[in-house]
Amino acid sequence: MSVCEFKPGLEGIPAAQSSISFVNGQEGILEYRGLRIEDLAENSTFLETAYLLIWGKLPTKDELIEFEHEVRYHRRIKYRIRDMMKSFPESGHPMDALQASAAALGLFYSRRDLDNPAYIRDAVVRLLATIPTMVAAFQLMRKGNDPVRPRDDLDYSANFLYMLSEREPDPLMARIFDVCLTLHAEHTMNASTFSARVTASTLTDPYAVVASAVGTLGGPLHGGANEEVIGMLEEIGSVENVGSYLEDRLQRKAKIMGFGHRVYKVKDPRATILQKLAEQMFDKFGYDKYYDIAVELERAIAEKLGHKGIYPNVDFYSGLVYRKMGIPTDLFTPVFAIARVAGWLAHWKEQIAENRIFRPTQVYTGHHDVSYTPVEQR
Ligand code: CMC
Repeated sequence: MSVCEFKPGLEGIPAAQSSISFVNGQEGILEYRGLRIEDLAENSTFLETAYLLIWGKLPTKDELIEFEHEVRYHRRIKYRIRDMMKSFPESGHPMDALQASAAALGLFYSRRDLDNPAYIRDAVVRLLATIPTMVAAFQLMRKGNDPVRPRDDLDYSANFLYMLSEREPDPLMARIFDVCLTLHAEHTMNASTFSARVTASTLTDPYAVVASAVGTLGGPLHGGANEEVIGMLEEIGSVENVGSYLEDRLQRKAKIMGFGHRVYKVKDPRATILQKLAEQMFDKFGYDKYYDIAVELERAIAEKLGHKGIYPNVDFYSGLVYRKMGIPTDLFTPVFAIARVAGWLAHWKEQIAENRIFRPTQVYTGHHDVSYTPVEQR
């Protein structure tokens, strides 16, 4: 048997064959099913993009209407799930609440009928439809309020913003939020998608697949970075402090949140689009001083770390956009999850279509033939 070289973080090792998305990290290109992210951000909607990712093609007009209709009418969550969420501690992180709630859906809908296209469709619709409702419900309940009912007259993104704030959002804000979801919907074999595929490969139910991916997304090296970025900008406090902050971090060999990527060695194309969206938000809804700090930080990091290919990733500007929408900082990663559920489901579907359970190997570095020492002699 050949001995493979161990690669920490499995860098460069393909974990699947996939036709869902493509990244060229040297040129900053991202495609979903062959369509450029810039094109989708400009012309598509999140639900249409979700359909594209999951079913592999853009829907016809009728297919899109039917899909949007199904998602719209599955937004409500069972009162038992709501009651369960009510008992969560309000000090708990919303990502933990979301992971527990997504897993709980499996209690109601798990049949593991994976050969049945109707079961797959139902799970896709239910997860896309209810995850935003669960995120918004936890947000209101932890403040001591009752969750608001989804509004059938509002589209996917406008309804989510409405459920969070109990106010109908400005149409531009809702459109920008929808573009943010499109940008975050899928990104090849990242940690949470890998997690989703490993879980899917055991042929468990899709609610467990999504719950495991939510758990993986939450860490600060992955989706949790967007939340840390805002904390960092607040800590820096002013444009003048950027240089000294950066020096201090670099001396301590600490990472700068929202920068760097395993694949991109140039600015992440999603960060470029998000920066423009942030500017549109500030033009319409007012200036944010943290934007100037962010721009100066990007410039200073390009100077110091550009030679290593360290540039802004998707998490750098997204928080500034969400902040201006009034979304609390600790909901940034759940919002990322609302979008990424589309990609996870696409990978779930692809994985089970040609499944082989994940069972990698390891390089054993321990001892052999050790004899047991009775407890009194240790
Ligand atoms: N700040 C400073 N230096 C960095 C950074 C950073 N953010 N990222 C990488 N480096 C340096 C690192 O110190 C190392 O330098 P050297 O070779 O001199 O030791 C080199 O670049 C390679 O870094 P690495 O940690 O081996 O790279 P990785 O591919 O294992 O990690 C990463 C990728 C995204 C985890 C990492 O860049 C990072 O921790 N970034 C900050 C957290 C963050 O923004 N995460 C969001 C990632 S994108 C969206 C998502 O996945 O959710």
